[in-house]
Amino acid sequence: MGLLIRNGSVVSADKTLAADVLIEGATIKEVRAGIPAEPGHEILDATGMLLLPGGIDAHTHLDMPFGGTTSSDDFETGTCAAAIGGTTTIVDFAIQARGTKMRDALDTWWKKAESKACIDYGLHMIVTDLSDAGLEDMDDMVREGVASFKLFMAYPNVLMVDDATIFRALKQTSKNGALICMHAENGSVIDVIVRQALAEGKTAPIYHALTRPTLAEAEAVHRAIALAEIAGVPIYIVHLSSEDALNQVREARDRGLPAFAETCPQYLLLSIDDMNVPGFESAKYVFTPPLREKQNLPKLWDGLKSDHLQVVSTDHCPFCFEDQKSLGKDDFTKIPNGGPGIENRLQLLHHHGVNAGKITLNRFVEIVSTAPARIFGMYPKKGAIAPGSDADIVVWDPKAEHLISAKTHHMRVDYSMFEGFKVQGNARQVFSRGELIVEYGRYVGRTGRGQYLRREARGGAWT
Ligand code: URP
Ligand code: ZN
Ligand code: ZN
Repeated sequence: MGLLIRNGSVVSADKTLAADVLIEGATIKEVRAGIPAEPGHEILDATGMLLLPGGIDAHTHLDMPFGGTTSSDDFETGTCAAAIGGTTTIVDFAIQARGTKMRDALDTWWKKAESKACIDYGLHMIVTDLSDAGLEDMDDMVREGVASFKLFMAYPNVLMVDDATIFRALKQTSKNGALICMHAENGSVIDVIVRQALAEGKTAPIYHALTRPTLAEAEAVHRAIALAEIAGVPIYIVHLSSEDALNQVREARDRGLPAFAETCPQYLLLSIDDMNVPGFESAKYVFTPPLREKQNLPKLWDGLKSDHLQVVSTDHCPFCFEDQKSLGKDDFTKIPNGGPGIENRLQLLHHHGVNAGKITLNRFVEIVSTAPARIFGMYPKKGAIAPGSDADIVVWDPKAEHLISAKTHHMRVDYSMFEGFKVQGNARQVFSRGELIVEYGRYVGRTGRGQYLRREARGGAWT
């Protein structure tokens, strides 16, 4: 018994190797050229194909209540779409409701996922309330494999926490080894600018972007890193969107600090110019941080190339245009914040990164799989094609052409942020723990087969 994938090129973060891969059960048994086929081996010919470790999307929001509604993909539709695009693991966010225990949120999110997830999933915990009991709550979560926490410096009165709370959470991670992920934008200042805009009658979607300056992001990134430095712990900045913010991360890393950051395809490929569309249409691009001026895009690509940015996640948080984004028709502050992308991350990064010569194939694998596995305590179970690792393998056809469109995508949302983008490079087959789950753009696995991943708290050993 076993599956032998022959004649492919195995791509890892540091090399590309012409090799066969032998899978036995859920794990990889052997990786080398010329593995002999034995009786009972099923053979898959991967001539001309790249073999990638399954993609890891470390930032998704499935079935998440937000902005008076709920993100439109649940754990079934969202993870199925992810799989079709070559992602075999996600880390989603559970949200602690104010005044409640984090365990309640964990139970709620386990219930959302357990009978639906099509791929493996971990959970971060969004901390909204850190009473004294909360600090122990964090340790309790770490024991459950929730090895990272997200805190918000934005969304006052909803998710935002103050600096004291942030600092206490950071300090606690020096004891429990977890990682703090920061939504870094100065929410109080943005709130003043937003109120002023509304008072002036500026209610259209574009004002969501125009009221959130890059310096409000940079200031928060600077503050978050400074607080982590005082606490003596690493920090991870989520969905970094601008050159100003990137400069803060680069300065910290140049000083040797363990500051990490992710960006997302929308910040690499779209700009505020894409909001220059008639009527309410630009609400499709209302997410936070917002789209930036065009000159930021090459800086973010440079940041990825030079490891000032380590990860590309999607921040997939879909809301349908017709009946959800429309909640903010007369007031941009009521547009649910978020956009879809879980299905297209590898296609977009491969085409606009690798094919365009902006990053190497190995760096591509690192930022979409190996680095998030390492940073979020899943490596080498995930993020590697190596003996003993989970057999999460994408048979990637680097020549396959694909047109991204809401008409054909699998995400449960009525628009695509990348409508009409033509990409070259796509998943031909996807294996998750040795099981074939995607073939030629079709999900062929079972709903609910995805398993909860207990992630390891790394205690600062991220580099
Ligand atoms: O607009 C966004 N990004 N929505 C999801 C929540 C968050 O802040 O990540
Ligand atoms: Zn955020
Ligand atoms: Zn998010």
